[in-house]
Amino acid sequence: MCGIVGYVGNREASEVLLKGLKRLEYRGYDSAGIALVNGGLHFNKGKGKVDALAKKIKQSGLEGHLGIGHTRWATHGEPNDINSHPHMSESGNIAVVHNGIIENYTTLKKQLISRGKTFHSQTDTEIVAQLLEEIYTTSRGVSFEQAIQLTLKQIVGTYGLAIVNKDMPDKIFIARKGSPLLLGIGENEMFIASDASPIVGYTNKVVYLDDGEMATITKDSYSVKTIEDVELTKEVHELAISIDEIEKAGYPHFMLKEIFEQPRSIADCMRGRLNVENNSIQLGGIEDVMDDLVNAKRIVIAACGTSWHSGLVGEYLFEYLAKTPVEVEYASEFRYRDPLVGEGDVLLVISQSGETADTIAALREAKKRGALVLGICNVVGSTISRETEAGVFTHAGPEIGVASTKAFTAQVVVLTMMALSLGKRKGVLSQDEMSKFIKELSKIPSKVEYILEHNDESIQKMAGLFTYAPNFLYLGRSYNFPVALEGALKLKEISYIHAEGYPAAEMKHGPIALIDEMMPVVVIAATDHTNEKMISNIEEVKARKGRIISIMNDENSDVMDLSEFHISIPTTNDCFSPLLTVIPLQLLSYYIAVNRGCNVDQPRNLAKSVTVE
Ligand code: F6R
Repeated sequence: MCGIVGYVGNREASEVLLKGLKRLEYRGYDSAGIALVNGGLHFNKGKGKVDALAKKIKQSGLEGHLGIGHTRWATHGEPNDINSHPHMSESGNIAVVHNGIIENYTTLKKQLISRGKTFHSQTDTEIVAQLLEEIYTTSRGVSFEQAIQLTLKQIVGTYGLAIVNKDMPDKIFIARKGSPLLLGIGENEMFIASDASPIVGYTNKVVYLDDGEMATITKDSYSVKTIEDVELTKEVHELAISIDEIEKAGYPHFMLKEIFEQPRSIADCMRGRLNVENNSIQLGGIEDVMDDLVNAKRIVIAACGTSWHSGLVGEYLFEYLAKTPVEVEYASEFRYRDPLVGEGDVLLVISQSGETADTIAALREAKKRGALVLGICNVVGSTISRETEAGVFTHAGPEIGVASTKAFTAQVVVLTMMALSLGKRKGVLSQDEMSKFIKELSKIPSKVEYILEHNDESIQKMAGLFTYAPNFLYLGRSYNFPVALEGALKLKEISYIHAEGYPAAEMKHGPIALIDEMMPVVVIAATDHTNEKMISNIEEVKARKGRIISIMNDENSDVMDLSEFHISIPTTNDCFSPLLTVIPLQLLSYYIAVNRGCNVDQPRNLAKSVTVE
């Protein structure tokens, strides 16, 4: 949600900033802008994508070796030229880019207006520039850094901030509370960014800022301190992302690339953890808390969106394989009730980005109440990965397409491995059962590959027939009920078609009223133990002339005969089936969205990581 980039060094700053913004565009894409310090403070910004900004910058000949940039996902104020970042102070001497939300901005704005300031935008960010300038210019003997600290003390809310001052042409100032920021250390150059993607290819040395910290950066130095002015020595981390991972590799969209990467990303997630020869699973990140997991009264899973869906699959897995009770919560709901969690409970948060505001708040709440807080995260170094007490990385590689695909399957793989390890430790699973599960799980990457190779074309054709359907229904049972929810979410978020996911049996309690000859019903009928019940549900849809598209196991002739279209997938153990059934649904939504001319990687109104409530 919004992206920040900054550069100081010997390169042409606008080039580094624009390249960085392009890579960050998946985080927000309604407007973009940059500010450069070069003899004065110059900026160019506006509604639209980074490419439009790049054209304007080329025409304007904006140059310099120090600057900051921003790509926006609007929270306060509609996306337009004026509301785009950077925001300037009244004199034009200070420029600010900001991620997050300043909750008390209306109060601060009123106070500033009463003291004679004029505002141009409807954003909360503009008050930072105005207030900072007021403090800096009216408080005697206060350095710019101190003025930033005093400003931040008046702000309630969240921020990742990058600030430049015309009179300090060699410095960038950054501060963080609740919105990620990191600093890349190069040779005589420094980078800042809200995630690692703009930095990749320049340097692999990074410092992550924590909440309540700020930094002053020049091309060959950086100093980090708290907002309370306590100097800090920060650990320098090594980035493990490569350039290839953040480019499209010949695919028309990141989403398609990421769908097709799944045989590899699933294998990467298992690598070094799932050992078929030794019949064992080793999850180093949670080894130390395994006893707590064994003794846990229950596991509460908190997450949002697609990660919440993988959590729902996790509930089935933990209960079946480890006999541990599980509750799955929307992180946003969990944080605002008075949740009954405490000692003896485990809160497991799941997040691709590791920066989702509601999920972070849920983990903090549970920690405060004494629960053990574990995480499943894709982004190494993210807030969630650092604030959880232990956890497992999904190692799916950067996910750039806004619609989550490979992160979902990697999350389900991690949940499966966790449930199997726990089941083994608890004595629920015998060595023999473990061996069967491990062998089958290790075959999932090749089964996913098979689905991609054998179904891509037929799904493209089928998508053509349903492109203009106004509604879709997705039905699943057991492990595949969450997949029905996920299939519906994928379709609605990238194609803007209204879609609902239901447990198949719930259909007769209401949604059946929607079914007529116009309604495509996607039935996920690939779990053996619910096969007969699913066939009855299909009959019910068919009796009302619904158009059935089924995802079914090889050679399930009963389902095939009842379906207008079917997609056959290889058979696996029921509890692993979501890893296979979700693949055709990802492809179906992708091709429908492409047919409708939608911007698949950057769907309207969405952002990759939702760092505001
Ligand atoms: C859907 C999607 C979102 C995210 C949700 C949580 O395709 O991408 O629903 O799953 O915003 O994000 P993370 O997993 O980063 O916490």
